Amino acid sequence: MNLISASLLSTDLSNLAQEARRCLAAGADWLHIDMMDGHFVPNLSYGPPVLKSLKAALPDAFYDVHLMLAEPQRHLAAVAAAGADSVTFHLEAMPDAAAVRGLLAAIRAAGCRAGLSVKPGTPAEAVLPYLGELDMVLVMSVEPGFGGQAFLPVALEKLAALRAACAALGDAAPRLQADGGINAVTGAQCLAAGADVLVIGSALAKAPDPAAVVRALQNA
Ligand code: DX5
Ligand code: ZN
Repeated sequence: MNLISASLLSTDLSNLAQEARRCLAAGADWLHIDMMDGHFVPNLSYGPPVLKSLKAALPDAFYDVHLMLAEPQRHLAAVAAAGADSVTFHLEAMPDAAAVRGLLAAIRAAGCRAGLSVKPGTPAEAVLPYLGELDMVLVMSVEPGFGGQAFLPVALEKLAALRAACAALGDAAPRLQADGGINAVTGAQCLAAGADVLVIGSALAKAPDPAAVVRALQNA
């Protein structure tokens, strides 16, 4: 079954725990926590203290943390201590391959699953050297920074290329996550291209029947 990770970015942040409960009640498998620093992306969102509060309110949820930070390694300890189950950082934020591998190892040592993300302009080939060392690849289908943007189809060819490359890895293949502009239509396209985890933000917040959207994509 495909997994749905509900992004809380476009929800009512004054009622974050309630919004998270609503996503989980709709059937979402994970909660997607978008951390932004105003440097790697133009926007600011929330950080480890907010995750820590949410984790205290909903201790059993799975926290899928997406770091849109210029120096993700500086924040790993706080993110892990706050309750992250999975930590994904951006390849574009890292100076070299040694830094990527060092952070992947640090994430695992902190007890979390490790993910690597690429922006729309970064080719799938850039991820291939790390493919066997990842729990998840996050393919951005919008420019990171804001919820509610339109889906960029360039993500589909990237997902297809990564899915093809994963075949050689068998059970060791990472999950492939698509994030940005996902709704019932674009979500189905991403699944067909090879994704098995979908991040859904504004489409879930706006849906009259969010459970129906989640169910349809989980079973697609
Ligand atoms: C964007 C974030 C996404 C965003 C998705 O930078 O990484 O997770 O919240 O929101 P929608 O689904 O509205 O594009
Ligand atoms: Zn995200």
